[in-house]
Amino acid sequence: AGNRTFTMIKPDAVSAANSGAIMKMIEEAGFRIVAVKKTQLSEERAGEFYAVHSQRSFFKELCTYMSSGAIIPMILEKDNAVEDFRKLIGATDPKKAEPGTIRNLFAKSIEANAIHGSDSDENAALECSFFFSNLERF
Ligand code: CMP
Repeated sequence: AGNRTFTMIKPDAVSAANSGAIMKMIEEAGFRIVAVKKTQLSEERAGEFYAVHSQRSFFKELCTYMSSGAIIPMILEKDNAVEDFRKLIGATDPKKAEPGTIRNLFAKSIEANAIHGSDSDENAALECSFFFSNLERF
């Protein structure tokens, strides 16, 4: 067992039918899927998830986008999970994401950037609990 991170496949990638390819890349990179579901956020709940960004200019637009369609949140496990997962997804802005990263391959824009990855162990734990109860973790 390693440590854990949180991810969600965002509405642009789900609606483009890229969720299967993305989950395959995640498993092939050595992450174990501990929990997974398909759901949709309300604008209000998207705002709670992204509360740290509430003062940013793009906050309202981000909440509208994140509640615009289905998402696939997941808990992932691997040694060095947070850091290794951020390498696998690449930079927030797909124009800056390294070739072969998930965002390089699938993101549409800096906002519709295909996937989220926690930025610290502390936030990973909070984000996992935002979506999943202990009974949903395997
Ligand atoms: P994520 O890693 O989920 O964390 C915050 C999200 O805000 C980010 O991915 C993008 O979806 C979005 N975001 C970050 N910067 C910008 C920006 N400059 N304009 C619009 N959306 C952004």
